[in-house]
Amino acid sequence: MSIRILAIESSCDDTSAAIMVDGQLISLGVSNQEVHAKYGGVVPELASRAHLQNIVPVIVDVINQAGLEPKDLSAIAFTQGPGLLGSLLVGTNFAKSFALASNIPLISVNHMEAHIMAHMIDDPKPTFPFLCLTVSGGHTQIVLVKSPLQFQILGETIDDAAGEAFDKTGKMLGLPYPAGPEIDKLARKGMPLYSFTHPKVKGYNYSFSGLKTSIRNFIIKEKNKDIDFIGSHLNDICSSVQKTIVDILLHNLEKAALDHDISEIAIAGGVSANSGLRIGLTDLCSSHNWTAYIPKFEYCTDNAAMIAMSAHFKYLKGDFEQQTIAPEPRLKMLH
Ligand code: KG4
Ligand code: ZN
Repeated sequence: MSIRILAIESSCDDTSAAIMVDGQLISLGVSNQEVHAKYGGVVPELASRAHLQNIVPVIVDVINQAGLEPKDLSAIAFTQGPGLLGSLLVGTNFAKSFALASNIPLISVNHMEAHIMAHMIDDPKPTFPFLCLTVSGGHTQIVLVKSPLQFQILGETIDDAAGEAFDKTGKMLGLPYPAGPEIDKLARKGMPLYSFTHPKVKGYNYSFSGLKTSIRNFIIKEKNKDIDFIGSHLNDICSSVQKTIVDILLHNLEKAALDHDISEIAIAGGVSANSGLRIGLTDLCSSHNWTAYIPKFEYCTDNAAMIAMSAHFKYLKGDFEQQTIAPEPRLKMLH
């Protein structure tokens, strides 16, 4: 009997569902929420309402695309955390009700572990142990991945996440939310002419709040000399911001790989879609003769395919949940 998993992701502002059969992705649907753009960031209350509207159509769609019926499923998986409480509740509650009604196991998944497990969906897959730099709007972590269910955080941000650094800088430059993809696009047309201070943080940890201040001060100073400075130098500013963030990210990743003697290096999360980071990682790895693992664009940002992949490994171990399980907005990784 094959393992047929329906997975749901609803931790932030994307409602996604996927069907995976025996570890192979069969169908994936993502419904993005446009409602937040005009507020310059995700509004939690609006996000949970939109999940409530989107969740059933997205799920029906992936089940139909897979040519299955609800009774064919072996288990249902959902994101337990970390994420926004109201958003997580929508996916959690749906999964619990579905598991109860269909009398199938319920599997909870950690969103950050799932971002990493996105690397196990398609070939080539990294071999264990490998290092993963997980960079998203809410997290920045260097993780030693020992097995599909064993993770050790070696370093993480002590303030802003890398995605936040992109988004907040973009806001200062008048770019729409989320500014990460926009900065990436403009950076390709510019040169990294300006330099910003790199933080001094212990171990493999990161800090991005100082960078934000450094960029703000730079903008104020230059605008005092030329009021149109941003407009006339936007591409070069974006290129400089992107290069600084990428250099900071890769510096600690290189250190962690050398210290732990790991030569399989992956990136994951929304910011792993960044072209500068993708090129930077490829160059870093080829200079050390390491192997770089860069996810497909659709597996970088939030998606249920990665939730299904994590859930598949949990299913193999028989790691199922009780009906009393609740969302955990600050869920930690398994060690
Ligand atoms: O993983 P994700 O979809 O959601 C969270 O779990 O946070 O990551 C979203 C973040 C946002 O901060 C967005 O600006 C950033 O990923 N992002 C990018 C790019 N694409 C998405 N940042 C830089 N360059 C990109 N191409
Ligand atoms: Zn994410």
